Formats: sequence, C-alpha cells, structure tokens
Amino acid sequence: MDKIIIRGGARLRGEVRISGAKNAALPILASSLLARGTCTFKNVPLLNDVSTMARLLGAMGAEVERGRGGRTLRLRSEGAISCDASYELVKTMRASVLVLGPLVARHGYARVSLPGGCAIGARPIDQHVKGLEAMGAKISLDHGYVVARAKRLHGASIVCDIPTVTGTENLMMAASLAVGRTCIENAAREPEVEELGRVLNKMGARIEGAGTSVVTIDGVDELQPIEHAIMPDRIEAGTFMVAAAITRGDVLVRDVVPEHLDAVIAKLRAAGTEVTLEADGLRVRGAAEIRPVDITTQPHPGFPTDMQAQFMVLATQAQGQSVIAETIFENRYMHVQELNRMGAAVMVDGRTSVIRGPSQLSGAQVMATDLRASASLILAGLIADGKTEVLRVYHLDRGYERIERKLRALGADIKRMKGRG
Ligand code: EPU
Repeated sequence: MDKIIIRGGARLRGEVRISGAKNAALPILASSLLARGTCTFKNVPLLNDVSTMARLLGAMGAEVERGRGGRTLRLRSEGAISCDASYELVKTMRASVLVLGPLVARHGYARVSLPGGCAIGARPIDQHVKGLEAMGAKISLDHGYVVARAKRLHGASIVCDIPTVTGTENLMMAASLAVGRTCIENAAREPEVEELGRVLNKMGARIEGAGTSVVTIDGVDELQPIEHAIMPDRIEAGTFMVAAAITRGDVLVRDVVPEHLDAVIAKLRAAGTEVTLEADGLRVRGAAEIRPVDITTQPHPGFPTDMQAQFMVLATQAQGQSVIAETIFENRYMHVQELNRMGAAVMVDGRTSVIRGPSQLSGAQVMATDLRASASLILAGLIADGKTEVLRVYHLDRGYERIERKLRALGADIKRMKGRG
C-alpha cells in the first residue's frame, strides 16, 4: 500500500485547481441508469470511489467508456441490465446504494446489498426504504440484500425523519419516473442534491426545489441521455483553504463555487484567515495568529461534517480553546488519537471535542480509517516538525485527486511512496 511522506514547514503559495465533486459525481453516474441512451459526463474526478461506481454499473451490464485523460465518462445502460448490486462492491463504498432508486424506477426490480456499518458510524438506509415504500415499492430483506419490487412507482408525499443526502437523491431519481407527483419534505439541501436535480431536469425530469428542504417531482415516462460537466468539489476546495490558512500561506483556489463554501469561509474568517473573492477563485491568506473557533456540524447550509477533521487541525494552531460538536455522524473522531500522537491537545467527550491550542505538532507515522480523517493528517503533516508518514493512503485516494501533486505544486515537501504502508 502507498504512503505519503511530508516534511512540514513550507508556506503554501500559488494556485490550485479543484476537481469535479465526488459526491456530485456518484449520484450523477447512477442517474445514467434512468436514461435511454448514452450519457456523457465531463470533469469527472479521478477517484477510487468514482471507479467503484463505474465498476458497479459495468458489473450490472452498463457500457462504460472513459475518454482521454479519464475525466470524461460515457455510460449506456440500455439492454440487458442486471439489477443486482453485490456485496463485493457495495461493501467498499456505501454510495453504491444510489443505484437502488434508479433500478426500481426503471426496471421494476432492484437487489442491492445492504451497506452495513462503516468507519464513521452506523449509517442506516431506513429513510431511502421508507420513501420507496411510500411510492409503492415492495421491499424485503433477503440474506443481507434489500430487494425492491414495483410494477411502476407512483407519486407520494414523503416527510424524511432527518435530512439525508443520498436518501434524497435516491428518492428524486426514483420519483422522476413515477406516475404522478412526489413531494419530499425535510429533504437534504446540499449543493450535490441541487446538482443532481439539474442533471435530471436536463434529462427531461420535472423537479422543483432541489437544494431546498421541499422537493417536488412530477414523474415522466422516460428520460433522455445528456452531456453534463460535474461541478467543483467544495470539500476538496475547503481542504486546500485550510492548508493555506495553517501554513500561513497565500493560495488562490480556482474552480470553486464560492456560495457552496459560505459556512467554511465564515469559520476561516472567524479564525483570522483572510478570504477574498477574486475573479477566478477564492484567495486565502493565513494569519500569523490564528483565533480559536467553535464549530457544530450541521446539514447544509450549516458547517459540513466533511470539513470537521480539517478544521480540528486549524484549531490545534489557535491561541486558545476551540470546541467542535459533531452532530451528523456518531464516530467521526478517528483523527483525534493520531493528532494527539503528533502533539495536539484534543479531548473528546461523546460528540464534543475540546482542542487546546496552540500546539507545535511533531511528525510521526499516522494512519486513519476514513477519508476526511486522512486528509486532516496530511494537513497536520504540513505544519509538523520533521517527517510525517501517512499510511493507508487508499482512503485519501477515494476522495482527493492527486492531493500530493497539488500540494507539491504549492510548495509543500510531500511525496507518495509506492508499495507497502
Ligand atoms: N441516516 C439515517 N437513515 C437514513 C439515511 C441517513 O439515519 O436512511 C443518518 C446517517 O446515519 C447520518 C445522517 O443521517 O447520521 C446523515 O447521513 P446522510 O444520509 O446525509 O449521509 P450520506 O448520504 O450517507 C453523504 C456524503 C457523505 C457526507 C454526508 C453528510 C455522499 C456519497 N456521501 O453521505 O460524504 O458526509 O452525506 O453530508 O454524498 C465523504 O465524502 O467523506 C462523505 C462521508
């Protein structure tokens, strides 16, 4: 397994381009199951999770073709589609559950392995199931698989118990081909949900309100193939913004949608970081003195859970005490032990963590068992004394495209070593 080696201390300077959004690409690739013909998606990020989704669609019989450079994907799922998503693939990526809605809507049948728990928490799919049942699907559990059947789904009024991102996406895709009107209340408002709504509407769906808490979908009989370029990844952008802030750097983050980052920008500014909107991106200049910040993760437009681990590294550099509350996932502090091994002073009590700064971090061998936790260890390595080795880099490769190359181009002393880790 590869590892990443960092020697801390460099101030990041220059420009970085943000890749297409992982969490937009995954539902959008799954949405190709709904269209009659070949969909072409551009600006698809080169990530392991995207490859897993492409493999899953391929294993179900879709034709998958990658264009030059790998960032264009053509997907065609006419003909003999198997409506089976096996445990082998689903267990490596929970977002595989996104094929459930499209399959049952288009083919009347889906058999998708239950994803089970994952490193960051239990993450059930009861809201996906409840919504599909309201639309008329008969759902059963069969040897670890969720099996959904419906001659044709019908519109329904659905109130989600909690806003769920992939749940809202699954239901929007399913409702697009249902008979009649579906209304999803307490829907997730994440920009990736809005982007999926845009994509489905381009295909001919009739969706209103995607990106707000009430989404209305008038079902249509068929959807057409489209071409679409995936929007930029707000979490990758936020991660580079924190990297600039903690290294007291000066970085222009290009290819971003600034309004997707409002909550992140507000907290960076509260910490003293200068963030300015320029014609071609967001310019981030780290302050000599970082102020403590208090953060509670929330569904969008609140502060994203996917940025919590990175902000904890920022908090280790602040003059004073910061408090972070993680309200979305019950087990998303896997970076804490590793940060403490590097010299941070973080105390966790349930879902709350208290960070006493500033700490001089010192390089160490570290590893984490989820994507954003791994990103936080890379950030810690950028400001630590001496050498940090981040092991189990495959977590990072799920969600960050060539992070070491992008950081190196900004002046970081960072490299990937192939092989055992
Ligand atoms: N939940 C339920 N029942 C459900 C669905 C969700 O109880 O049926 C709970 C979850 O256990 C969690 C909360 O609701 O406590 C929110 O989960 P949500 O369903 O919104 O998360 P998700 O759709 O599984 C997506 C992202 C995650 C991101 C979360 C929250 C994708 C592919 N994944 O997951 O991204 O953290 O929304 O914003 O869109 C990442 O990129 O590192 C990542 C984990």
